Amino acid sequence: MSAYRDIWTREADLDSLQLRIHDAVPLDRLHDRARTYRQQMFERYYPDARPRRGDRVLEVGSGVGWIMQAVIEEYPRVAEVVGLDISQNMISKAQERWTDHRARWQLYDGLHFPFPDDHFQVIYSCAAMQHVEKHHAFLVFKEMHRVLSHNGHAVMQLMPTQLMSRVPTKFEEECLIHIANRADVHWHHFYSFDELIEIFSKAITVNDLDLQLDDERINLYVHFSKGKSRPFRREELADVAYPDLAEARIKAMSNQIQVLTQQILELRDRGRLIKVNRLRRMTGRALPLVRRLAPAGTRRRAALTRFVRRLTKPVS
Ligand SMILES: C[S@@+](CC[C@H](N)C(=O)[O-])C[C@H]1O[C@@H](n2cnc3c(N)ncnc32)[C@H](O)[C@@H]1O
Repeated sequence: MSAYRDIWTREADLDSLQLRIHDAVPLDRLHDRARTYRQQMFERYYPDARPRRGDRVLEVGSGVGWIMQAVIEEYPRVAEVVGLDISQNMISKAQERWTDHRARWQLYDGLHFPFPDDHFQVIYSCAAMQHVEKHHAFLVFKEMHRVLSHNGHAVMQLMPTQLMSRVPTKFEEECLIHIANRADVHWHHFYSFDELIEIFSKAITVNDLDLQLDDERINLYVHFSKGKSRPFRREELADVAYPDLAEARIKAMSNQIQVLTQQILELRDRGRLIKVNRLRRMTGRALPLVRRLAPAGTRRRAALTRFVRRLTKPVS
């Protein structure tokens, strides 16, 4: 069994636990930290996922319950918020710190959620799944999908690959921690955009997948629902995350525009203006693509924009 779990399940008192598990955020800032996660998930990025009156809400990896508390504070009409965790120590310390009639906790084995299918309207998880060994995490993601109700929403915060070179532990060191199966430190896993599409859209077949990298590229949020029809929404993030891919697409688009230009010129020479106008409309569709792919303010974007504008001037 992977030793990543031990550091979470071992006995520790509330204060030392809180200092260790919240990324060194001071105790008097923990409420604000929790509110920020809540605000990013349910107000800024995914307002559709906001918990509503009577909802059953689940937090996966709830620790000592700060985010559960922040959720109940903002959405007091939920039926309940359940904190699911692998650590009895976390659950006991959460209960020692704070209780509420809408909050309850559930211990589990890390693999099988002890809930029926389609049970929760809202599921969220922050600062938890990035510590779980990736193959193990995949099985947890599947469980999240299983217990999510139809038309329910799940939101999860993970660490993006863009953060790999910016964290204090060198990636090489991180790899050695996993290989040595060390039980005395927190393990970290970084997720890429492509990988998450494969995992969620294709392997778990979630609907309405929407990935969001925050402005500082520290948090990668995953949102999905069940029973809705959109397969994947935020394709342009691929271009933000993978500049090489964006470059290749711009090149392909430039070639396409050149072919269209050639066709326009040939048709004009032959005096077939109706077709020319149709082709111009087709070229016009390239403008939003330019905006999406070429970063604002770059010379490439200005040149492509001028080019497309020239082509799309109506023929009189
Ligand atoms: C860094 S704490 C975060 C707690 C809380 N989400 C927060 O941000 O305040 C990580 C939590 O995930 C829990 N955890 C670790 N592996 C888990 C797993 N496989 N399933 C559920 N929870 C897990 C740990 O026990 C711990 O409570």
